[in-house]
Amino acid sequence: MLGQNLTALITTKAGGYEINAANRPQLGFMQFMVDCTVVLNHEVIQGVSQRNLRVVKYRGSDFAENEAPFLIGPGGLEVAGARELGQADGMEPPVTTERISSGVARLDAMLGGGYYRGATILITGFPGTAKSTLSGAFSEAACERGERALFVSFDSDANEVVRNLASVQIRLDRFVKKGLLRMVSARTLTGSAEIFLMQIKRLVREHRARCVVIDPVSALSKTGNEGTAHSVAERLMAW
Ligand SMILES: Nc1ncnc2c1ncn2[C@@H]1O[C@H](COP(=O)(O)OP(=O)(O)O)[C@@H](O)[C@H]1O
Ligand SMILES: [Mg+2]
Repeated sequence: MLGQNLTALITTKAGGYEINAANRPQLGFMQFMVDCTVVLNHEVIQGVSQRNLRVVKYRGSDFAENEAPFLIGPGGLEVAGARELGQADGMEPPVTTERISSGVARLDAMLGGGYYRGATILITGFPGTAKSTLSGAFSEAACERGERALFVSFDSDANEVVRNLASVQIRLDRFVKKGLLRMVSARTLTGSAEIFLMQIKRLVREHRARCVVIDPVSALSKTGNEGTAHSVAERLMAW
């Protein structure tokens, strides 16, 4: 209402997924009158709660058309953005030639000086092939440089990871005590793969981490997440 300099937000209870003329004959007309419509949805998929919102229309404006999962929690209402508007192709973040240590000198040499800062590195191997060990070495190296690191462990309890790695001289406990390293047991994070992604992003922000380890990401495809695991893993890497 430009004349009155007023912005109005109206809510309706929708029976079905969307209010439209078919399932809400009394209110369907509103769809045509309003300038912007946001539809909220809450479903349980294979036992996992999933909340989504979607912008259905927005007159005179570009908008992200895909459904976006969201989380209501202590941090407020957080909406997961697949690809934010304005972050489209051609607006890639700058790349750097800076190298950081993998934590293993010989591997650094093999990589021509270490991992690139800002890179995403995938370590893949059967159980017992040293994925967690390399993850620990990377985290330790980060903390030795004075950088803050986040280690999200899906397989074992965070304390177990610290204990096990100590047996191969990767001493993470000192950095945990200093507050440089934050160890997170992923079983304390609950919900769908989408929610995991949001929680990981939030932890990284809160801890102001410069290095993050997710060990192993395969756990994303567990329980009720098959449908979203691929897309979440993709967005995790893009992020
Ligand atoms: N103190 C140790 N001495 C020798 N080998 C060890 C020691 N601790 C662990 N290992 C071995 O290191 C290997 C790598 O373990 P880990 O990094 O947990 O593998 P992944 O994460 O790939 O499953 C295991 O095969 C384990 O037996
Ligand atoms: Mg492991």
